[in-house]
Amino acid sequence: MIIAIDGPAASGKGTISKKLAQHFALPHMDTGLLYRAVGYAMRDDLDRPDWEKLAIEKAQSLELSHYHEDDLTTAEAGVAASKVARVPEVRTALREVQIAFAQQEDGAILDGRDIGTRICPDADVKLYITADAETRAERRTKQLNARGVDVTFDEILAQIEKRDADDKDNPAGAFYVAPDAHLLDTTKLSIEAAFQAALELVNDVLAQE
Ligand code: DC
Repeated sequence: MIIAIDGPAASGKGTISKKLAQHFALPHMDTGLLYRAVGYAMRDDLDRPDWEKLAIEKAQSLELSHYHEDDLTTAEAGVAASKVARVPEVRTALREVQIAFAQQEDGAILDGRDIGTRICPDADVKLYITADAETRAERRTKQLNARGVDVTFDEILAQIEKRDADDKDNPAGAFYVAPDAHLLDTTKLSIEAAFQAALELVNDVLAQE
């Protein structure tokens, strides 16, 4: 069984995916981490004239286990990820890693931006998780403040809106909602309520198979 979960930054898709993976005992891949790892590896090189060539090389030889998740979840790594994600050959290299992960015997859950459209178009269940930008910014600000990072809601909202816009016009293929994806808006939902709603959608789809 393959579950594909897409959605914008801080929509809740990561938390929902992890909980679904636990529930169904399936391996889970946060595919944003792949782009973030390439972005992080490129952090001192993004201004070089040949940065695209270097980014492609990093993507082709990526070993995710060489990176600490703490380094990859920063706002800087997110911005760098969004930049390298615009290079078609970077996407091709990371696509192979994602497809290999999805082909595990019992199946898998992958979350990202193009899982239901380009990586696993034949997934058994596709979810598209959204929330309005203010709610996503509020959640992200709380998360970061709890970790001791000094950021304001306005800064985070501006970052989220910029990233939404950059991701939307990604020249390597704009992200879109798969026509057969089930939409879940988590704006008014707690984490637990969002997970329960996602689980219900998945179970409904599986019951129809
Ligand atoms: O979901 P995230 O914030 O970890 O993603 C970081 C960036 O990586 C995001 O701006 C777009 C890119 N990305 C992508 O292009 N395709 C994916 N499947 C996942 C992330």
